Amino acid sequence: MEPLIKVRDLYKIFNIGTNKVYALNGVSFDIYRGEFIAIVGTSGSGKSTCLNMLAGLEAPSSGIIQIAGKRIDRMNESQLVAFRRQNVGFIFQSYNLIPSMNALENVSMPLMFRGVPLETRTKAAKHYMELIGIGDQGLHMPNQMSGGQQQRVGIARALVIDPKIIFADEPTGNLDSHTTDDVLNLLKKIVEEEHRTLVMVTHDPHIASWADRQLRVVDGHIVETVINKESSIEQEILRETGSEPYCVVTPEN
Ligand SMILES: Nc1ncnc2c1ncn2[C@@H]1O[C@H](COP(=O)(O)OP(=O)(O)OP(=O)(O)O)[C@@H](O)[C@H]1O
Ligand SMILES: [Mg+2]
Repeated sequence: MEPLIKVRDLYKIFNIGTNKVYALNGVSFDIYRGEFIAIVGTSGSGKSTCLNMLAGLEAPSSGIIQIAGKRIDRMNESQLVAFRRQNVGFIFQSYNLIPSMNALENVSMPLMFRGVPLETRTKAAKHYMELIGIGDQGLHMPNQMSGGQQQRVGIARALVIDPKIIFADEPTGNLDSHTTDDVLNLLKKIVEEEHRTLVMVTHDPHIASWADRQLRVVDGHIVETVINKESSIEQEILRETGSEPYCVVTPEN
């Protein structure tokens, strides 16, 4: 069983004046197809940096990122654009909606880039908006919606392309607890029924506990992996590989 995502010795160093910020300080891990992974840690620990690099949105300072057998750390910008369009749905921490487009247009936009005809993409967008509980908001502009509604537009937009991998940065950060449960249930159902892979960033241990496996990040290091032994995908990985999923554990000091 080959990992879908393979990360080795990944570093991201930001230079601020003469200071170096090690946002990611040499992390290594594997993620298997069908897993729901939570990257969990406090604010500033490096979660978004890690997710952005996995999705090919930011270039690593050094290290290896291999996804479905392809080295994305070696791709140029146009290769990355093609890779993302084909494989990745990204739910942004700050929504990133286009202010001049209504909700329906925002959700259907990724399909436009794929050349899907208007009628088909509108139908698909409506389907996901209904699924996520904003079916009646299609004509609303982003500035006419609450934070939680905009967040759900961002989620529907990520799902509309049927992505192999869903990357989600605090996907429920602006939702009340009831809607949070609905959205997590929906994401979990999509992962399980359609054998997708979900990598979700959160600072909230309760939300992280929904995942099959949690990678806990402190100061740019993965300090702990928590496996949900009840999870059928984790049992399958253990059975097939004979070991717990690969992860270097750096002792906390
Ligand atoms: N573009 C940047 N330039 C300089 N430093 C950055 C940049 N982006 C992130 N950092 C720094 O890298 C570290 C990790 O940031 P990151 O955004 O990954 O944290 P996070 O875990 O996602 O936090 P939060 O929960 O607040 O979103 C922080 O110290 C941050 O200040
Ligand atoms: Mg973040």
